[in-house]
Amino acid sequence: MATEERAINLSQGFPGFGADPVLLDLVAKYTREGFNQYAPMSGIPQLRERLAEKTRRTQGYLPNSETEVTIVSGATEAIFAAVTAILRAGEETIVLEPAYDSYEPAITLNGGIPVYVPLNAGNFSVDWEKVKDAITPKTRLILVNSPHNPSGFVWSQADVDQLAALIRHREIYVVSDEVYEHITFDGLKHISLGSHPELRQKTFVCGSFGKTFHVTGWKIGYCIAPTELTAEFRKVHQYITFSTVTPIQYALAEYLEVPERYLSILDFYQKKRDLFVKGLGETDLRFTPSTGSFFQLASYGHLSQIGDREIAEKMTRKLKIACIPISVFYSDKRDDKIIRFCFAKDDAELLEGLDRLKNLAEIL
Ligand SMILES: Cc1ncc(COP(=O)(O)O)c(C=O)c1O
Repeated sequence: MATEERAINLSQGFPGFGADPVLLDLVAKYTREGFNQYAPMSGIPQLRERLAEKTRRTQGYLPNSETEVTIVSGATEAIFAAVTAILRAGEETIVLEPAYDSYEPAITLNGGIPVYVPLNAGNFSVDWEKVKDAITPKTRLILVNSPHNPSGFVWSQADVDQLAALIRHREIYVVSDEVYEHITFDGLKHISLGSHPELRQKTFVCGSFGKTFHVTGWKIGYCIAPTELTAEFRKVHQYITFSTVTPIQYALAEYLEVPERYLSILDFYQKKRDLFVKGLGETDLRFTPSTGSFFQLASYGHLSQIGDREIAEKMTRKLKIACIPISVFYSDKRDDKIIRFCFAKDDAELLEGLDRLKNLAEIL
């Protein structure tokens, strides 16, 4: 609809700007130098090693790059393969809602049963009592996501500890979607579940180079999990894609040699978040500044009671600015009158979009 209407598109979660030319040149170099045949099933050793090193630097633990790190075709594949590796028909998976849309099909296609637990209204933090109440003898998996899409909520150490305590004596595993690991704001730090020695034994950490380096179309990501879990994970990965695009793996391995390249992402997005919330403050929408990811939620229930899908459509068609209604992230499509904006766009586009948002009253 955004394309049809030539609207400023702040809906889908992909960056509107290019990648670092250094990275693009590396891809060109490796394709020309003939790195164009199948990569090893688990990923090229150089990239697995660099990723393990990045994990040590940012999360304080060093995964075994041979047995605990697998390169896959995007976090979506990592999530699907991890769920498939663990879940058997009839077993339950706890999903915290609102949730990214690939979780439910990954569970149901494996014959599993999603059990939804709503995040707290307002700030989208986790209600650990509710999570505890949702656990049954059939619970085999919990699927979590921090920094969170769509809310931007970032887990604290207390959240991580709560999850560890909750599954301590249970045979429950965790799929941790950490694709926005390098995008947190206001001094907050992303805490990978892998950094918790106990949780690390039961967790598949799923990440995305596409999200980190503004190249979502490359569909390249990874999974870090303990040796036994990685062995099961690879059995699935082997028959989904077998291996992941070779020249890009070589390019990323070389690119990751300079830590500044992933550490600087944080400042880059902090500026975008600041610019976007400053402008949003001049509109009639209500919001709390996002603390992570490249999404900003805003509510309009104090202005109008029209449905969130309807307002998103009107904004796209009449104001020419596209956003996403939050009801689509809920299994029961509940409508809390909240919309999501993606601010991973050029500043000029963000400013133009914000300008159009000032006319919101016209469509309510
Ligand atoms: C929370 C979350 N997980 C996973 C993905 C997909 O990552 P990838 O493109 O690496 O498959 C997205 C993309 O929007 C996402 O928002």
